[in-house]
Amino acid sequence: MAMDITPLVRESDKKTSLIVESQEQAIPDSLSQETVISVKHWTDHLFSFRITRPRTFRFRSGEFIMLGLFINNKPLLRAYSVTSPNWDDELEFLSIKVPDGPLTSRLQHIKTGDKLLLGKKPTGTLTLDAITPAKNLYMISTGTGIAPFVSLIRDPETFEKFHEVVLTHTCRTVAELEYGKNIIDALKNDPLIAEFAENKITYFSSVTRDNYNSVGRITTLINSGEFFHNIGKSPLNPKIDRVMICGSVDMLNEVSVLLESNGFIQGSNASPADYIIEKAFAE
Ligand SMILES: Cc1cc2nc3c(=O)[nH]c(=O)nc-3n(C[C@H](O)[C@H](O)[C@H](O)COP(=O)(O)OP(=O)(O)OC[C@H]3O[C@@H](n4cnc5c(N)ncnc54)[C@H](O)[C@@H]3O)c2cc1C
Ligand SMILES: NC(=O)c1ccc[n+]([C@@H]2O[C@H](COP(=O)([O-])OP(=O)(O)OC[C@H]3O[C@@H](n4cnc5c(N)ncnc54)[C@H](OP(=O)(O)O)[C@@H]3O)[C@@H](O)[C@H]2O)c1
Repeated sequence: MAMDITPLVRESDKKTSLIVESQEQAIPDSLSQETVISVKHWTDHLFSFRITRPRTFRFRSGEFIMLGLFINNKPLLRAYSVTSPNWDDELEFLSIKVPDGPLTSRLQHIKTGDKLLLGKKPTGTLTLDAITPAKNLYMISTGTGIAPFVSLIRDPETFEKFHEVVLTHTCRTVAELEYGKNIIDALKNDPLIAEFAENKITYFSSVTRDNYNSVGRITTLINSGEFFHNIGKSPLNPKIDRVMICGSVDMLNEVSVLLESNGFIQGSNASPADYIIEKAFAE
């Protein structure tokens, strides 16, 4: 069954006014209150933001954390992958805006200086510890599922552990690819990562409901061979390749079946192996 990451308050999450200020609320021991440093809106459905990082907050690149706001005097929290790498002084996140979403219908209105609630216990399976070493690392993502990989591609350890890294991102529209493209472009000039990532990272993107140079679900493009033809690599092979997958549950399941039929074994933090998905979604 799925790991229990049930937010503290769901109560089908009554809709109320926008952000409820939290300064006067008692902060539960499991949470800290952080300040929004910046917010960037990428599309009508996607935004990213940076917040302060508590000095005691340690995490492994690729992990997720509970994040939220006080709503009706109670914390309303959701799981969020940290997109910043573990060496960053601040914490960055990429978020969907679900129009009626209990959290994101409010969270999308945050501004610099606002307060957010942050869990104290990051966790997750999409870490370098959960896969065994190999030549190539494939990171396969859809939608906001790119988030943990944005952390990992900014961590030098990823490039120390793998000779080549291939990041795939499939969204519905070209505009939704923009955040990821910016991160990839910025890597080239990042004083800490550029020398590690240079010539080691391949970025492949496709869209499913827009005009673009690659159109189709990643599963379709893998099965047809178009993906491998496009990046100039051989089909996935457990002897030399490792795979991390993040996105919708259907996509995770389809890619897992595909990998297992090719001899890949699923790993975890306790038992690293050939491919990993976020265990929070695992059956
Ligand atoms: C381990 C884990 C990590 C996550 N990391 C992120 C992250 O980094 N960024 C992020 O935006 N979300 C992430 N999510 C989803 C996130 O926890 C919330 O579901 C999301 O913030 C919406 O919250 P909500 O209260 O507004 O709506 P919810 O009631 O949580 O969701 C309403 C509906 O919106 C859709 N939905 C929710 N989240 C998404 C999404 N990200 N993309 C597409 N459709 C979605 C689903 O159909 C869902 O049933 C993660 C979820 C898990 C389990
Ligand atoms: N750490 C984590 O575990 C973590 C972090 C961040 C986000 N997430 C999760 O990631 C998910 C993002 O949602 P989403 O990917 O569904 O976003 P989305 O924006 O709804 O869809 C993105 C793309 O996925 C394609 N897709 C849908 N079903 C597919 C399938 N079965 N196989 C292959 N491709 C498929 C869609 O193609 P079509 O247009 O053809 O449908 C679309 O192009 C959310 O569920 C969120 O909770 C998890």
